[in-house]
Amino acid sequence: MKKISILMAAIFAAVYLQAQPLPQEVKMKQFIDELMSKMTLEEKIGQLNLPGAGDFTTGQTASTDIGKKIIEGKVGGLFNISTAAKIRSVQQVAVEKSRLKIPLIFGMDVIHGYKSVFPIPLGLSCSWDMELIEQSARIAAQEASADGICWTFSPMVDLSRDPRWGRIAEGGGEDPYLGGEIARAMVRGYQGNDLTANNTILACVKHFALYGASEAGRDYNTVDMSRHRMYNEYFLPYKAAVEEGAGSVMASFNEVDGIPATGNKWLMDDVLRKQWGFGGFIVTDYTGINEMIDHGMGDLQTVSALALEAGMDMDMVGEGFLTTLHKSVNEGKITTAQIDAACRRILEAKYKLGLFDDPYRYCDPQRAATEVYTDANRKIARQTAAESFVLLKNEGNILPLKKNAKIALVGPLADDRLNMCGTWTVAGEFEKAISVHDGIKMVTGKPENIIVAKGSNIVSDSLLETRIGMFGKATGWDSRPADVMIAEAVKAAEKSDVVIAVLGEASESSGESSSLTNIEIPQNQRDLMQALLNTGKPVVMVLLTGRPLALKWENDNVPAILNMWFGGSEAGAAVADVIFGDVVPSGKLTTSFPLNTGQIPIYYNHKNTGRPLADGQWFSKFRSNYLDVPNEPLYPFGYGLSYTTFTYSDISLSKNTIKPGENIEVKVKVSNTGKYDGKEVVQLYIRDMVGTTTRPVKELKKFEKVMIKKGETREITFKITEEDLKFYNYNLDFVAEPGDFKVFVGGNSRDVKEASFSLTK
Ligand code: BGC
Repeated sequence: MKKISILMAAIFAAVYLQAQPLPQEVKMKQFIDELMSKMTLEEKIGQLNLPGAGDFTTGQTASTDIGKKIIEGKVGGLFNISTAAKIRSVQQVAVEKSRLKIPLIFGMDVIHGYKSVFPIPLGLSCSWDMELIEQSARIAAQEASADGICWTFSPMVDLSRDPRWGRIAEGGGEDPYLGGEIARAMVRGYQGNDLTANNTILACVKHFALYGASEAGRDYNTVDMSRHRMYNEYFLPYKAAVEEGAGSVMASFNEVDGIPATGNKWLMDDVLRKQWGFGGFIVTDYTGINEMIDHGMGDLQTVSALALEAGMDMDMVGEGFLTTLHKSVNEGKITTAQIDAACRRILEAKYKLGLFDDPYRYCDPQRAATEVYTDANRKIARQTAAESFVLLKNEGNILPLKKNAKIALVGPLADDRLNMCGTWTVAGEFEKAISVHDGIKMVTGKPENIIVAKGSNIVSDSLLETRIGMFGKATGWDSRPADVMIAEAVKAAEKSDVVIAVLGEASESSGESSSLTNIEIPQNQRDLMQALLNTGKPVVMVLLTGRPLALKWENDNVPAILNMWFGGSEAGAAVADVIFGDVVPSGKLTTSFPLNTGQIPIYYNHKNTGRPLADGQWFSKFRSNYLDVPNEPLYPFGYGLSYTTFTYSDISLSKNTIKPGENIEVKVKVSNTGKYDGKEVVQLYIRDMVGTTTRPVKELKKFEKVMIKKGETREITFKITEEDLKFYNYNLDFVAEPGDFKVFVGGNSRDVKEASFSLTK
């Protein structure tokens, strides 16, 4: 009896203590209650308004009369504005001239670094190094916050399996689990442990949800997907970011299950808030509310009410909230309680950032002068870039090159600083970026050994060039005839020991509103490459791209291909580090490279179908395949070469059967059998052999990036728990089903060792 009452008391105490809000939450609630008691309905609606300041353009329309609106309490925050001094002066208007002196929140698309620019997120993901990824976000936060920014529209965690979609560049690739780990690392990096610190900023997970699955890879296009797939695949990175404590979420432009995300109550309220427990605020994407008119959901008043009801708290640029919500309250279409809830969430974010204590917390000119674009930050950006590069081919070990080689450095991107950083380099100074030419000079110390020739434009079609250049960054169009440019490059090649051809895309060939139907290297660049190959000199292709390209021709013809994505402000130095062997490449693809555009969507974690091909076959009548190309991609998920080689032992399992709650240890020995010390990304996949719903042929569950010295063998141990075997079943319950599983370990998703175990009841 006594024991029971002690137990009851303990349970009561635990429940009671858990239910008690923390003192700071009590303080925050009191503060906001008091503030809101003074606010008019107009002022509350004002907090939900997020105009764009216009220092940069990230959308089509512009916000107007911002200063006047700030004074009238009609602005909650501002984005697309930079420098500590400017932000300070705008903040001053808000806290000195508006009636209630509520500070503004300042946002920006700090996507892959601020002034020290890191690789585009897709490149960053190929490092498979979560500490480095977190550090890149930490540095981005540190630099941006020194310049007045306290909120970033990042991480973008949209899973995508369609390289036609230009925004694949902004995400972490095709895998839900890896995408989730990256999302977590980014949130940790931006927000740190203490949001009130002056060098941490609020993260914004975007674009919720499913934006990466737009039909035909056309940006902003329709998405249609089963809930089963949403829960098992596309939702996972967003959910991971929310679990990590991301303070805000951005809605996506697309529809989800027939209703635009911006007005989708099921998505925002049921899934995000209720099922995942998200307590932060939700911002629309750029004019996302207004776009619901074109989606066919009603007029501005109707769609604004729909968005508020769905759970949108902040309206980016479009001012549907500002201009219609009051009227909708008067007409009984929405309630003041709904506006209060949204306003409270915005004020809470400002409170958590410490803006009520010190509205100028992020505007320290001293920090702006000493903490941005520092040598230390740039050094880490350079290291990170090198880790993100993926060596796709290296026939005859052409790479690494000798530092005293005579080099023909050719191609439209060889001597180009403007295109090194890639899309969404909002604050970076492109002119300062290190080009491949700069980098090679720095690393070899022999500028006299390099002959530079452009060889071709990035694209052959000047109209396409104009469209790519629309976002402000030049592609460096050269009006000389193609054959003249090629002849110049061939001459350079003939005088050299080796050719480095820097080819690929312009920065803005990928990113927002940059979809393509043809993802091959443009013909003019291919003509250049063919002419270079014809010289008989060894040719190394260095590739700049924001998406997987269809490189079958290049893979068939060019001996060495190093993909440097868009590596950021230090990319040119980093690529020279790799080309000349100071750094051994270790990046692995997080997105499959198709053989051709027609294979899209292509991803390693597909289903088996009822008519799969047998192993090793590439065509069989009445099986699921193509007549003209195999089912396999050119380079699979997880793939990437090193200058050294790794071999894998067979897998050993600690047991062959596990019960719920038990673990199984998976061990494998990885040996460095080549001539260089190198890092290997050891990857573990599973396959659930029988399920109540169909299951993918492989799913990444664990990975470890390890340094293995030449001649050394390391034993890697992974632990699989029942949790790792769970998935959302047909009823969307998260369960592990007893039965047989396969486990695979290898250096990519295709070349693996395998073993089997089973889960019993
Ligand atoms: C993009 C968002 C971005 C926003 C603000 C939109 O066009 O879809 O990713 O954060 O603009 O610049």
